[in-house]
Amino acid sequence: VRSVDWVDGHLLVIDQTLLPGELRHVELRTVDEVIDAIKRLAVRGAPAIGVAGALGVALAALLAEQSGAGPDAVRRDAARIRAARPTAVNLAWAVDRVLARLDAGTAAVVDAAVAMIEADIDTNRALGIRGADWLETRVRPPLTVLTHCNAGGLACVEWGTALGIVRALHERGAITEVLVGETRPLLQGARLTAFELGAMDVPYRIVVDGAGPGLIARGVVDAVLVGADRVAANGDVANKVGTYPLALACARARIPFVVAAPESTLDASTPDGASIPIEERDPAEVLTVAGSPTAPAGAQACNPAFDITPADLVTAVVTEARVIEGAPF
Ligand code: MRU
Repeated sequence: VRSVDWVDGHLLVIDQTLLPGELRHVELRTVDEVIDAIKRLAVRGAPAIGVAGALGVALAALLAEQSGAGPDAVRRDAARIRAARPTAVNLAWAVDRVLARLDAGTAAVVDAAVAMIEADIDTNRALGIRGADWLETRVRPPLTVLTHCNAGGLACVEWGTALGIVRALHERGAITEVLVGETRPLLQGARLTAFELGAMDVPYRIVVDGAGPGLIARGVVDAVLVGADRVAANGDVANKVGTYPLALACARARIPFVVAAPESTLDASTPDGASIPIEERDPAEVLTVAGSPTAPAGAQACNPAFDITPADLVTAVVTEARVIEGAPF
């Protein structure tokens, strides 16, 4: 099941806000619908929003051709899509790549965007196998791994990055259990990673985010595997808020902290983590659970969606092409 697809000239996406209760596909037929889906995390995860952004530009080109709006209108739409979420570099990368084909015509734009769907699947498959091979040389299987947020097939088109490594290890009989950080406030771990691991038949237990570092310190975790939204040139990693404390705990416990990310997540033009824009989301996400208030009326909240893990805490960045040990890349 693809999280993002292109069917008859429009996008077909899984609305991830409804999972795990309901697996519903929604059609996105306008650029505004694509932007809204990305902003409200119906489509989420760095590689998935990259592919959705690229297909959004294809949609903009098709609609402009039908209405006679011209290339400047497509460029304006592409800029709006690019700005929908700031932290994951994959969105800007994919939009720019597809937009570069605009002078070659609408068909070239559509072809470039659609090609990203298959490319994403191939990339993650290769990454998963490379990461599993590498990890088996570092830690004796079977492994208990801890992951945070969702870096699975839902966050990509299929297969996943960190969960792609888990999938490859599981196929080798090398996974004892996955501990899943629930990932407050939007619960990508509890809702989405647990859903995917269940479908893969991988044993898992969900832990509250605050439990992760303590479990690592107690020695029950062999390695932490996470995805990334952007890796800066010096090797600093932006990922879902709550990743940094896990990396600190891994360093203290001397276990691998592994970042799984496609090459498109490595951003040579951003020098370091301090230069990565961190998305601030609506405080209401923190002040409520499933729509019900959990704090006193009038309470304020601060809601950074990502944090930065300094490069010196990262044991390895695994991509489809290489394993980078020690920053920078
Ligand atoms: O806010 P989200 O759910 O889009 O955040 C996603 C993450 O932080 C993932 O870990 C990251 O995008 C990598 S997905 C392969």
